[in-house]
Amino acid sequence: MKILIINGPNLNMLGRRKPEHYGKETLEAINLYIADYFKKIEVQFYQGNSEGGIIDQIQSAVVKNFKGLVINAGAYTHYSYAIRDALESCGLPVVEIHLSNIDAREEFRRISVISPVCWGTISGLGKYGYILAVQALAHHLAKKEN
Ligand code: DQA
Repeated sequence: MKILIINGPNLNMLGRRKPEHYGKETLEAINLYIADYFKKIEVQFYQGNSEGGIIDQIQSAVVKNFKGLVINAGAYTHYSYAIRDALESCGLPVVEIHLSNIDAREEFRRISVISPVCWGTISGLGKYGYILAVQALAHHLAKKEN
């Protein structure tokens, strides 16, 4: 089973960017932790700073045989209808994730335009959110197969 984890803009700056919200680990370290955690699920990673790059990944996910998506869309979460439309029509279950608790921060972060088209949302649990998201997708997909 192949799952794609998409990280959006500025998440390549983890480790240096606002550690009080996002922790001290780099994205590379978090990705290694996730890849190492799952022995039976193939997890692949994409990080992109542009909306188009992220949409291309979402659109090609089915063709590349991914069975589910995990997305931290960064600030695009709050206003990208283009990413929302891509997620809505991709035909895969999607889990939205945020390292920080977006409901406990500035007002503008409380709005997610992608939430309504996602299967579920995890917010505020740091890197463990990615682990939980992949686990949830794996359970969901296994249930669908039976
Ligand atoms: C974030 C929260 C967003 O509001 C912010 O723009 C990010 C990261 C998070 O992981 O907590 O870039 O998605």
